[in-house]
Amino acid sequence: MKPDELRKEFPVLTARRKGKLPVYFDNACMTLKPLSVTNAMMDYYHGFPGCHGRADHDFAARTSTAFAAARSRLQRFFNARSPNEIVFLRNATEGLNVLSRGIAFAPGDSVLTSELEHNSNLIPWQWAEKHRGIRRIVIPTLEDTGFDMRAFERAMDGSVKLVSLLHTSNVTGVTFPISEIVSIARKHGSLVCLDVAQSVLHQKVDVRRLGVDFMVASMHKMMGPTGMGVLYGRLELLKALDPHLTGGDTVIDSTLNHYVPAEVPQRFEAGLQDYAGAIGAAAAADLVDRLGHRHIHRHLVELNRHITDRLSEFPGVRILGPKDAVRRAGICNLILKGMDAMDTARLLNESAAVMVRPGRHCAHAFFNRRGLSESLRFSFGPYNTVSEVDQAVEAFANIHRLTYRA
Ligand SMILES: Cc1ncc(COP(=O)(O)O)c(C=O)c1O
Repeated sequence: MKPDELRKEFPVLTARRKGKLPVYFDNACMTLKPLSVTNAMMDYYHGFPGCHGRADHDFAARTSTAFAAARSRLQRFFNARSPNEIVFLRNATEGLNVLSRGIAFAPGDSVLTSELEHNSNLIPWQWAEKHRGIRRIVIPTLEDTGFDMRAFERAMDGSVKLVSLLHTSNVTGVTFPISEIVSIARKHGSLVCLDVAQSVLHQKVDVRRLGVDFMVASMHKMMGPTGMGVLYGRLELLKALDPHLTGGDTVIDSTLNHYVPAEVPQRFEAGLQDYAGAIGAAAAADLVDRLGHRHIHRHLVELNRHITDRLSEFPGVRILGPKDAVRRAGICNLILKGMDAMDTARLLNESAAVMVRPGRHCAHAFFNRRGLSESLRFSFGPYNTVSEVDQAVEAFANIHRLTYRA
């Protein structure tokens, strides 16, 4: 699909604000939604707005069919063995909470993460440390935030029940070498959970080829609906998990004193579900597959190379993570000296309708550990263009000229 054709899928990109077209570079937080996704969701709301699995009337039957088809679509997208290995949730964060609450940890078990994790893959394990008595091991990353294989191998001490790592970082864009990590984890009898929130758009996540046991993904980072996520788990592992929520739809029978749990994955999907969200997620998977991960990755790197070359020239600008943009996928995160990240983001928005994200990107622990205050993150999507990058750089240059103090 040509860029112009793709951009037509995103009407928000043509809606001027104070005369300016929006330049949306906050894709690591959330991607925009194409018409194919929102139309699929509207088809549900306008055409057959029913509940799944409760009644046999027309709306309910069509909802059940569409919900099951969406699950199968996501199964194919992630190459899971069975649709029953796909659990629909609100987001990646919820998936990690399901695991931190539901895995049967034994005394002495530990969970290994890295210093670069998003809070979503840090706080649930801090919670489990406090409430479930697990031990935590946090490994450092290399200076450029690449994966430190030696530190990892040293830390694998036989107590590690679960290795839970990001795939691609939302802070630096760096991607961890998961196949190697999995093969080392296997030797130590550890399970592996992969957080693909950031990689799912630009890397093919094939859970079988990667060999991971669990995976959490956010559909809103791959052009899908907001507040829609997926937890993948190998079937036997999902069956052994204690559900985090209980209630309607999680049981097949109950008495006043007992209940019989439903099969996997229904037992994890308590109450009415976001059927439109699941249908929209399937439509997003269609679009990502149509564009192709390789094409998306190449496009993000092209934009990143361009902005890296241009922004590196400004005094006081340092790019977090690896030097080469090819290792940072769609993320260019700036540490600014002599300029304020919050003010710069605000001025970019006000002066040029360029939307970026300042702050610590839900990775406070990493920023604290490295003694960094905050950064200014540009993150790209498949619909962004080189000329948008030029517009953003021009606006940045004006702000730099006015506010930079050596
Ligand atoms: C690497 C990573 N993990 C987890 C998350 C959490 O995703 P969600 O908000 O969908 O739960 C994010 C969100 O930015 C992320 O970048």
